[in-house]
Order: sequence, then structure tokens, then C-alpha cells
Amino acid sequence: MVKRDRNTVSLSEELKIRDAIAAVRSHTDKMKLAGHLPRAYVMTFGCQGNEADSERLAGLAEAMGYELSPDYEDADLVLVNTCAVREHAEKKALSSIGQLKHVKAKNAGVIIGVGGCMTSQQHRIDKIKESYPYVDFCFTTTELLFVPIYVSDRISGSGRRFPDAKEALGHTDFSEALPIRRESTTHAWVNIMYGCNNFCTYCIVPYVRGRERSRLPSDIYAEVEGLAGEGYHDITLLGQNVNSYGHDLTAGVNFAALLASLSEIKGDFRLRFMTSHPKDATSELITVMSEHEKIAHHFHLPIQSGSDRVLAEMNRRYTRDGYMKIIDELRLKMPDIAITSDVMVGFPGETEADFEMTLDAVRRAEFDMIYAFIYSPRGGTPAAKREDQVLDSVKSERFSRLIECQNEISRAHNEREVGKTLRVLMDDDLSRAKTGRTDGNRQIHVEGNASAGKFVNVLVTRADTYNLFGRAIDGVND
Ligand code: SAH
Ligand code: SF4
Ligand code: F3S
Repeated sequence: MVKRDRNTVSLSEELKIRDAIAAVRSHTDKMKLAGHLPRAYVMTFGCQGNEADSERLAGLAEAMGYELSPDYEDADLVLVNTCAVREHAEKKALSSIGQLKHVKAKNAGVIIGVGGCMTSQQHRIDKIKESYPYVDFCFTTTELLFVPIYVSDRISGSGRRFPDAKEALGHTDFSEALPIRRESTTHAWVNIMYGCNNFCTYCIVPYVRGRERSRLPSDIYAEVEGLAGEGYHDITLLGQNVNSYGHDLTAGVNFAALLASLSEIKGDFRLRFMTSHPKDATSELITVMSEHEKIAHHFHLPIQSGSDRVLAEMNRRYTRDGYMKIIDELRLKMPDIAITSDVMVGFPGETEADFEMTLDAVRRAEFDMIYAFIYSPRGGTPAAKREDQVLDSVKSERFSRLIECQNEISRAHNEREVGKTLRVLMDDDLSRAKTGRTDGNRQIHVEGNASAGKFVNVLVTRADTYNLFGRAIDGVND
């Protein structure tokens, strides 16, 4: 791999983005003078990576002079950030884009842009161009920074804009200067890298997010330091494969070193990260986690399958035994650690025996919680071309058995927490329920004196399969 000293766009490109923001701003200023408050709505599908991207889209919309709106009905700018990881995700996004037709019918001046992972595939871009004539432009995951240019062009009368996916995904440099409008004042996402190089055979992500690009350690440090200074209590470092951070940079800082340096930053916060790949879950990383107080004792480590044959066909590059060694080392160095995972059923060619190995691995690893997925063929990936696809009925039966197996484990885990005192970060909004998150990212319902967005010590009094219940202990609120 050719290492680079940075992955950011040139100054002239930054200036073009700034000019476009200013051009849209003068347009929205005119709307305001005419008595109309311009509004923007950002619709988000998909993972935390997309949530973080949407916070940038919202930041750009504000910089362009739009007020953020909780509803698209009265919006003057609608930006949709899509996901493509499973067929269901694409269907949901397409149906929501369908509903925007009447928004355009009501207000011909509304600008509608559709971006993200789904529209980083040529056939989806073509489909939107043809079947959704009210969509003004599409943008790929690598073009988010140029959205102000597309909005500005459209305002000044240019035609609809649809990218060539291959070409767009080739330009992967990002901007460090984009404004961010964060959803929460307690939890913050910090992207540390973009893209994925792993090409698991079932997965669309490397095709729609491009190759791995890391941010500079100094830029990440400055962002985390800023967030800690602003009082953020929970900071999650994001990447499709966070623990391969830095391999593409000449800076010579790996993920363990980055984490160690960030955990020296002053402030009352905990650090999390996701997602890790087992192939890069090193002893060095586990040791750093165990030695630095600010790093949450939580590890999300997708296993996907418990069968070595299936793992090899998925191109996961670890075996079941290799995976279990990581789990054992995590528990040895941090006995209180919460381990969560992603598990997939119904990969092509998965036999009943393979699936039983997955159940066995889930029992052996004793995850605190899993995200279970039914394999969904993704066009363009090697697994989708296989002829030995598993029947839908078999997939759903395996899915139910997997959930049942994990529920038993989760329940036992949660029951073991009863009687312990845990440090809980209360959610931002306690208007509906008084809930918070433990260090292990488990949801807990809290009674007693606990304020929104604050750390509080909670005595766990009760547990069920999905939840913990507890009482705030007086006098220890932050
Ligand atoms: N980069 C992360 C997560 C990627 S997507 C990682 O490698 O773990 C999140 C999860 O979606 C994956 O872990 C996988 O379990 C699931 N997933 C990905 N592609 C899928 C597909 N085609 N069908 C079903 N689930 C899929
Ligand atoms: Fe997809 Fe694998 Fe990359 Fe995760 S590591 S995003 S599952 S290709
Ligand atoms: Fe979906 Fe893209 Fe995330 S495909 S899961 S939004 S990386």
C-alpha cells in the first residue's frame, strides 16, 4: 500500500466549497428578507457512520442559511442519506424518497438531494434519475463535501446532477473544514477513518465507501479535545474497521497508539470505538484498553459465523479459535468487559452443521448482546453470485433459533449485574423514560435523582433479557 501524509482535499477545492456555501447563503438571505424562513430536513438511514455524515450535512445546511426542520413537509432543502447494506435498507430509502414527490408538487422550489451508500452504486443512481424526476441531484459517499456546490448550481438554474459512481468513488479525499451540527450534547461521533479494504464476500460497503482513508492523528486529537472541553461525556470513534486505523498514513500511529493518546485528554468523558475487525484486534490494543481509565470496557467484535469453512468463504481472515483467543484475552485483562457482536445466518452454502457451530460459538463467547442479521444478497458482491443460496424459510428459522439462544445468554448476563453499582451516563432526553447507558453500552432504566446528560452511580435492582433497572445512589451525581 502506498502511504500518504494526508487524505484531505486541496485548498482550491476547499475554497470552491466555501464559495458555494456563500452563494447559497445569499439566496437564503433573500428568502428571509422576503419573509420566508428557509428550512432544511436531513433524513438518515443506516449505521453510525451515516449518522455522523448526516451531522455534517446538517452543519452544511445551517452554514448555507437553512434552519433545520424536524419535518420534510415544509422544507426548502431535503437531503436523504441512504444505506445499502441489506435489501431492506434500500427498500426503506426508496419508499421514503417516493414520499417526497408530493413535497415537490406543493413547493416546486424545494431542492431534493439523495446521497449515501445506496446512491454510490450506478444502477441506483440511474434508477433515481429515471424514476424519481423530482430528485434534483444524487451524491456518492465521497461527494458529501461538495453538496453546497450541487445546491448552488441548482439554484442558479443548472440541470439535474447525477454522478458517474466509479469516477466519484475514485476521488476519496475529504475535508477537515466541514461544519458539524451534532444531534446530542452528551454523545458525539468522531470519524477516525473512512472506507473499508476488507471485501468480505457478502458486503457492499467497500464498493460504496471506497478504500480506507485515515484522518490525521492531530486532527482527531483536536476534535476530541474540543468535544471534551465542550462537556461531551461519551465520545465514539467511528470507522468500518477502526482498528486498522493509520495503516495508510506515513504518520506511523496505529489504533492502539491513537487510543492511548486520546485517553490522556483532560475532561470527564469515556471513549468508545466501533467497529473492530478480529484480524486487527491486537494484544497491544487490549492492553491499552485495560490500562486507560477513560476507555469504556466495551468491545464490539463481529464474529459473523462460528464455522471455519463459512468464515473462509466470507473472506473474514480469522478462525473460530483465533476469535475465541481474543475473547479470552479481553476477559482476562478486563473481567468486567461487555462484548457484543454481529452474527449472520444464511450465508450461501451454510448447512445446518455450520449454523450449529455458530450457535455453539455464540454460547462459548457469551456475548452480552448481538446484532443478528439474515444474509441478504448484494448485487456486485461475490456471495450474491453463488448458486447455493439458502432458502428464505431456512434463514428465518435459523434467525429465530439464534435470537432465542442469545436471549438466554443476555438474560443470564443481565441478572448477574443485579446488586452491582454501575456508572451510568443518563440520556440527553429523559422526557419519555429515565434511561441511561452503562460503560458496556447497556440500557438501564433509572429511578431517583438522575439528571439528563450526567454521570450517576446506579445500584442495579432488577434485570430482564433486554434491560437493566436500577436506583440512583444519592450524593454521587456529577
Ligand atoms: N464494518 C463492520 C460492519 C459492517 S455492516 C464490520 O466489519 O463488522 C454491519 C453488519 O451488517 C455486518 O457486521 C454484517 O453482520 C451485516 N451485513 C453486512 N452485509 C450484509 C448482507 N449482505 N446481508 C446481511 N447482513 C449483512
Ligand atoms: Fe463489510 Fe467486511 Fe468491511 Fe465490515 S469489514 S464493512 S463486513 S467488508
Ligand atoms: Fe449502510 Fe453504508 Fe453504513 S451501507 S451500514 S450506511 S456504511
